[in-house]
Amino acid sequence: MVELSWFVFLLILTFPFSVSKEDTEVTCVFSQSCILPCSFQFTSDSLIHWIYPITQNSSIHSYYHNKDQLGHQNQSFQNRTSLFLDQLSRGNASLLLKEVKIQDEGRYKCYTSNSRGQQDSFIRLKIEAPVSDIRIHQDGNRITCSSEGIYPQPELTWSTEPPSNTALQNRTTVHQTEEKLYDISSSLTGPDGPDLTYSCSIRTRRNQKTATSRSQRTSLPSAAPEGSSRHRVVSMVMVGAAVAVVTVVLVGKYKMQKLASAQHGGAQNEFTS
Ligand SMILES: *[C@@H]1O[C@H](CO)[C@@H](O)[C@H](O)[C@H]1NC(C)=O
Ligand SMILES: *[C@@H]1O[C@H](CO)[C@@H](O)[C@H](O)[C@H]1NC(C)=O
Ligand SMILES: *[C@@H]1O[C@H](CO)[C@@H](O)[C@H](O)[C@H]1NC(C)=O
Ligand SMILES: *[C@@H]1O[C@H](CO)[C@@H](O)[C@H](O)[C@H]1NC(C)=O
Ligand SMILES: *[C@@H]1O[C@H](CO)[C@@H](O)[C@H](O)[C@H]1NC(C)=O
Repeated sequence: MVELSWFVFLLILTFPFSVSKEDTEVTCVFSQSCILPCSFQFTSDSLIHWIYPITQNSSIHSYYHNKDQLGHQNQSFQNRTSLFLDQLSRGNASLLLKEVKIQDEGRYKCYTSNSRGQQDSFIRLKIEAPVSDIRIHQDGNRITCSSEGIYPQPELTWSTEPPSNTALQNRTTVHQTEEKLYDISSSLTGPDGPDLTYSCSIRTRRNQKTATSRSQRTSLPSAAPEGSSRHRVVSMVMVGAAVAVVTVVLVGKYKMQKLASAQHGGAQNEFTS
């Protein structure tokens, strides 16, 4: 037991260093801008190559002779890359990548070279497209839940309130678009039981969203207005009851006052104060 925990401890201690000593992980959101960090020792004769994919040694942004050199830039990065030129002299060779795509995921190399030496740094870029809109709608006994434009591949789960003891007959389809984003849709047929609330959750690495639908066998699609009118009826009944109670109390008090003034002639102030 003690040996095992020591082993786990050592594993945890050495794991991050042995696997990714030099990789910096960066996660960016699909279609937004992203900064790939890189630092170096600046001199005026500096050369910078941002390389991706590393296996093809292809340049997505180069800088030397004191200016950007985009002649050999990979086409799919055209108009999307820039350096922070005003920050170079501070040793900042970070790359600004705009409108990131799923295809931009992977390992990048920042190569810098000058009279002070040369250096490679590696960045592992991950792209995420969070779950945004999730829609749920009911058509008769069939409930469908869907969402689009998610990355990486999302998970979809159904649940009911109160919990159902029979497995839900669901069918889920996932489709990957040309942009490599995932569209997901799932439908199920509600059981002929008592009214149930159906919830659908779609989860990916970054976030999770849940939508809820109230199942009604009579399939009136106006669940929300009906609920609120029920609330209105309840509050009207409560107001009516309160008015009745107050009336009874006031009438009772008035009668007692009349009785008291009849008996003691003008002592009603003790009652009304
Ligand atoms: C990668 O490309 C750079 C610039 O084009 C070149 O100087 C270098 O020798 C290449 N490295 C390899 C391993 O092909
Ligand atoms: C350009 O980048 C894409 C990835 O965005 C890659 O698939 C392709 O091989 C690269 N082209 C060259 C010539 O390296
Ligand atoms: C990049 O910008 C130039 C000039 O605005 C334009 O002609 C070219 O089509 C753009 N390239 C891409 C891939 O968007
Ligand atoms: C480089 O400069 C940019 C823009 O000011 C900044 O966001 C980034 O954090 C800097 N990176 C480093 C490594 O200093
Ligand atoms: C959805 O259906 C599959 C079989 O098609 C089943 O294994 C799974 O439990 C169902 N999911 C739920 C939430 O009932």
